[in-house]
Amino acid sequence: MNKKLTCQLLLVCLALFGPMIWPAHSQNQPKPSSPSSSTSLNDFFESKIRPLLATECFSCHTDSQMGGLRMDSRESLLKGGKSGPAIVPGEPDKSLLIQAVRHTGGLKMPKGGKLPQSQIDALVEWVRTGAVWPAANTPVPLAKGEMKIDAARRAFWAFQPLRVVPAPTVKNTRWVKTEFDRFILARLEKEGLAPVAAADRRTLIRRATLDLTGLPPTVEEIEAFEKDKSADAFAKVVDRLLTSLNYGERWGRMWPDVARYGEEDYRSLDPMGRGFAPYPHAYLYPRLGGQSVQ
Ligand code: HEC
Repeated sequence: MNKKLTCQLLLVCLALFGPMIWPAHSQNQPKPSSPSSSTSLNDFFESKIRPLLATECFSCHTDSQMGGLRMDSRESLLKGGKSGPAIVPGEPDKSLLIQAVRHTGGLKMPKGGKLPQSQIDALVEWVRTGAVWPAANTPVPLAKGEMKIDAARRAFWAFQPLRVVPAPTVKNTRWVKTEFDRFILARLEKEGLAPVAAADRRTLIRRATLDLTGLPPTVEEIEAFEKDKSADAFAKVVDRLLTSLNYGERWGRMWPDVARYGEEDYRSLDPMGRGFAPYPHAYLYPRLGGQSVQ
């Protein structure tokens, strides 16, 4: 496999498994020490609890309020969701939130996997010590051009340093070809699912070609692949696709969409009549995009 393919795979895997491989919090954190004074309770919340809630729970428990529960303030946790209060300050064992992260009852949170023990311990400790949620700090006036990144933002998974995470152990070791496969298989096994059988060559080249270029393979390409018995036959197909012009065009075309490309401004449709505002030379953008990918 050439470098480009390796990069491509890495990106795909990062997108799929980034949060899994580099969770925001080191799993080897020491057990939380008991916070006592109110400043240390505040610090404990800001350093251990807020970032944890932000990365593990907020995606479903702020605006989307799954289960009727918002988790972005102490009040909303006390009010709780459909099943009543999510926390009982001082009483971790009676708190639904703790039962959910411990997986002791029917409710298992976060969806899709258990938190590392150190994080569960931290949540227990937080509820035990009264579930302190510091009032929003009055923002310290910042000098012009200065920027302050708070703990919650700093904890975003994409900003965590890289570290090696051992691939999970799996039952069906024969299916595994690369370390990445272990992550996929471990989750399938957890859900009681088995991988489908390997695709035949015709299906495989069709999938890869459509996937990378948006076009089906030609008859000649299919036949060449079917005849190529070398061990890296598929890697060669992918390399060929990655260096093809079609591949560059496909991704070049995607970027204008991402950048909300249009040949004019939405305001030309605006009943307020702010007028037609075309972007000069806009028709060149997709082409430029394609060329830069190439
Ligand atoms: C991917 C979405 C998702 C994430 C992430 C998530 N939850 Fe939930 N949560 C739900 C859904 C959906 C429900 C509704 C019950 C159900 O379907 O299991 C729920 C329900 C709950 C409830 C019960 C609410 C009620 O009153 O019935 C609690 C407590 C809870 N979640 C805690 C958490 C905690 C703590 C985290 C983070 C560690 C978390 N959840 C992360 C989706 C999520």
